[in-house]
Amino acid sequence: MQKNEVYLDNSATTRPYLEVSSEMQRVMLEKYGNPSSLHRRGSEGERLLQYSRQVLAEILGVSDSEIIFTSGGTESNNMAILGVARRYRKRGNHLITTAIEHSSVLEPFNLLEEEGFEVTYLIPDGKGVISPEKVAEALTPRTTLVSIMHVNNEIGSIQPISQISEVLRERNPDIIFHVDAVQSFTKLPLSPKDQGIDLLSISAHKFHGPKGVGALYLREGILLEPISRGGGHEKGLRPGTENTPGIQGMALAAKISYRNRKEKMKKLQSLKEQFITSLKTKHPWIRLNGPGKEEGAPHIFNISFPGLKGEVILHALEEHAIYVSTGSACHSGTGTSSHVLQAIKLDQESLEGAIRFSLSHLNTREEIEYAISKTNSVIAELKNFFHATR
Ligand SMILES: Cc1ncc(COP(=O)(O)O)c(C=O)c1O
Repeated sequence: MQKNEVYLDNSATTRPYLEVSSEMQRVMLEKYGNPSSLHRRGSEGERLLQYSRQVLAEILGVSDSEIIFTSGGTESNNMAILGVARRYRKRGNHLITTAIEHSSVLEPFNLLEEEGFEVTYLIPDGKGVISPEKVAEALTPRTTLVSIMHVNNEIGSIQPISQISEVLRERNPDIIFHVDAVQSFTKLPLSPKDQGIDLLSISAHKFHGPKGVGALYLREGILLEPISRGGGHEKGLRPGTENTPGIQGMALAAKISYRNRKEKMKKLQSLKEQFITSLKTKHPWIRLNGPGKEEGAPHIFNISFPGLKGEVILHALEEHAIYVSTGSACHSGTGTSSHVLQAIKLDQESLEGAIRFSLSHLNTREEIEYAISKTNSVIAELKNFFHATR
């Protein structure tokens, strides 16, 4: 964390650990061989890949042969969704996802609709949760793939992944279940084997690793139609010379983030509750969007300040070196309001006045107290200003 800066936009990206950047530099300068080369430098690169695969596999409790390296969450999601739907098309052409997924899930599904697939987009309840019953109701004998995110990146709602997979297994064990775990990996408990998950996407820059690198867990026996062609890397599913420094950086970041996970999450939950309680006490008219303060992921919460504009609040906080987001960073600049907040049916003023706060275990209590105090005063000033000029 830069001195005097309070970075609360950790769902957009995180600051890499110092150890990660040193390790990446070491790999880049010293272990630069192409893992496919037959000489010693190549074997060194191959060993790094093996090691990193083992680290991720161990955290997830899966076999290292089930980890495919990718360029991040977007590519993992595209590979999983397009790859499964097209590969299993003969079995059926109905697919299920939710209306609150990240665009790297929604857009592949939109593309599949253009290819003639039928897609059901499930609408969550007011807290941003999809019930297993809703999934059950949507299933048809032609359903081949269900893709549901674990933690929502805008409001922090947690989907009941294990219960949803139970419903799928009961109804039709052939249905393939993909989970976008980009916002939950290393933070919430995840065990694909116990939770009945067939494919799972992760992204290194969300847990203090480098940008542009991620992985896809692909359960043994599940086949994919590759979306890129050009070489035999990663079992021919993701051709291209592997990003060894990035992959090694991702593995180290995962190890550090996963260490003492429960303590880290406990601290974050307490900071989140403190933040929400203080804001609500000073400004009872604000609205916590999605899950209640004791529910949802410990690191993400979303608050609407109806009557104020999210972007104005964001820039006012920036003046105090506090960095937050209006909805999802991936949507900023598009001029449209968040599809997630629309799906949980916020009114127009709440949509326009929404701010996402996303924390990291690296945020200190002092930083959060500073951010609470400045947010409280910024909101009071803006409210007075707009009241006076109305
Ligand atoms: C839930 C979710 N899925 C996927 C992604 C995309 O990941 P990446 O930035 O690694 O492509 C993001 C990034 O914001 C995300 O929040």
